[in-house]
Amino acid sequence: MPTWVQLVYLACAVCFILALKGLSGPRTARAGNLIGAGAAVVAVVVPFIYLDLDHVPLIVAAIAVGTLGGVVGARKVQMTQMPQMVALFNGVGGGAAALVALLELQEMVPHEESVGWFTFAATAFTILVGSVSFSGSIITFAKLQELMTSRPVVFPGLPIVFGGAGVASIVLGVLTVTGPAVTIGVVLALLGLLVGVLLVLPVGGADVPIVISLLNAFTGLTVAAGGYVLSNVVLLVAGTLVGASGTYLTLLMAKAMGRSVSNILFGALKGGSTLGAGEASDRPVKSAGPEDVAILLGYADRVIIVPGYGLAVAQAQHTLRELVDVLGDRGTKVDYAIHPVAGRMPGHMNVLLAEAQVPYEQLVEMDHINGDFKTTDVVLVVGANDVVNPAAKTTPGAPIYGMPILNADEARQIVFMKRSMRPGFAGIENELLFDPKTTLLFGDAKDSLGKLLSAVKSL
Ligand code: TAP
Repeated sequence: MPTWVQLVYLACAVCFILALKGLSGPRTARAGNLIGAGAAVVAVVVPFIYLDLDHVPLIVAAIAVGTLGGVVGARKVQMTQMPQMVALFNGVGGGAAALVALLELQEMVPHEESVGWFTFAATAFTILVGSVSFSGSIITFAKLQELMTSRPVVFPGLPIVFGGAGVASIVLGVLTVTGPAVTIGVVLALLGLLVGVLLVLPVGGADVPIVISLLNAFTGLTVAAGGYVLSNVVLLVAGTLVGASGTYLTLLMAKAMGRSVSNILFGALKGGSTLGAGEASDRPVKSAGPEDVAILLGYADRVIIVPGYGLAVAQAQHTLRELVDVLGDRGTKVDYAIHPVAGRMPGHMNVLLAEAQVPYEQLVEMDHINGDFKTTDVVLVVGANDVVNPAAKTTPGAPIYGMPILNADEARQIVFMKRSMRPGFAGIENELLFDPKTTLLFGDAKDSLGKLLSAVKSL
């Protein structure tokens, strides 16, 4: 590899690290994304310059198809469908790495003696884990896109089939090192596909985004191993970064939900601890119309908005921002309290509110705002539930027990905007809905916020 290529690859690796750094905050995320994408384009173009490639038209056609699919998909996707798009992109990455490794295996087998055992081990790893990532991601996509049930799917003997497929994969992986053959690689890939399906089937509804993050980490490790097989440093670095950040993100999400990764993956196998929809409560609550809530908000000095999944479902972020602007003009101090797992994907609320041009300084992370609730006149909970449910602190055994929550219960008044008395993702009742300080404004968040906005304007 010429020195200039090595230097360009080094620069690309540095850009990938800068991209991750940029993506860690809403202000810098856009720049981080561009830096990472730019480096990826350079890394793809370089081999066309310094290598004498065969089948260039085919490769360019494949890149064109991928680019078209990526651009059209990313432009058309709804914010609430973002997790499944990530799943799809991630899955094809893992699948591509597995296919490349299979082809490399075919090339390596005739020269077995001159190839080190570690290269065969890395090839087997890439084939297996890439296939797991591909099929697992396709199932997560199907679940989130509601092409199949989003509830946990378990059947008698699933743990045995899963365990058997896992053990057989390891045996075939070892065989790829001791007596490499293309057929072994193909069977390994098929087993990987089976393991991926069986891994994700028992995971229910909104646990799926965490599995997507885990599979993303798998794809990263696959690509890193593929980089080793192909002696491509930039693939090795990019894959390692994706693997490490995906693993870290998975652990952070599980921690923010107060659950372990194994409980998320295998909860349903152990007996139904994977979460799902719960019953709507019929206990009496205090409800009010938009005019009454407008008076509460319009004469408050300090208001905190708690956005949640329902805000994304209703696509009410623009109306919410307008309401906050009007309150700000009336002299009310308003901030948004951002819980790390509000919504259904990491950074969901930041992205949603940034789309509505909410100033970044109004988005305050949980740890920074939790002390402010005590001195807050009104908390407006818009389509959120679990992230303010006191059961996380008070009810050992509740599925969210141990999850850090926003201290909305400490405010003087709490207003919930939701459509019904159905629970949130965790499927459990929220005592805060029945608190004497709480008022419910029933209805779709966009509709209710529109009425609230008009009512505040006419105060
Ligand atoms: P949830 O607890 O799921 O509550 C969402 C609320 O929005 C529900 O009370 C629902 O009540 C309401 N809602 C739905 N559509 C609405 C609409 N069109 N208009 C008004 N309200 C609407 O949401 P949350 O508080 O954001 O908590 C997130 C949950 O997801 C947590 O349990 C978290 O652990 C989990 N989770 C998060 C992630 C990440 S990374 N963010 C990943 C996986 C799981 P109605 O049906 O009565 O309207």
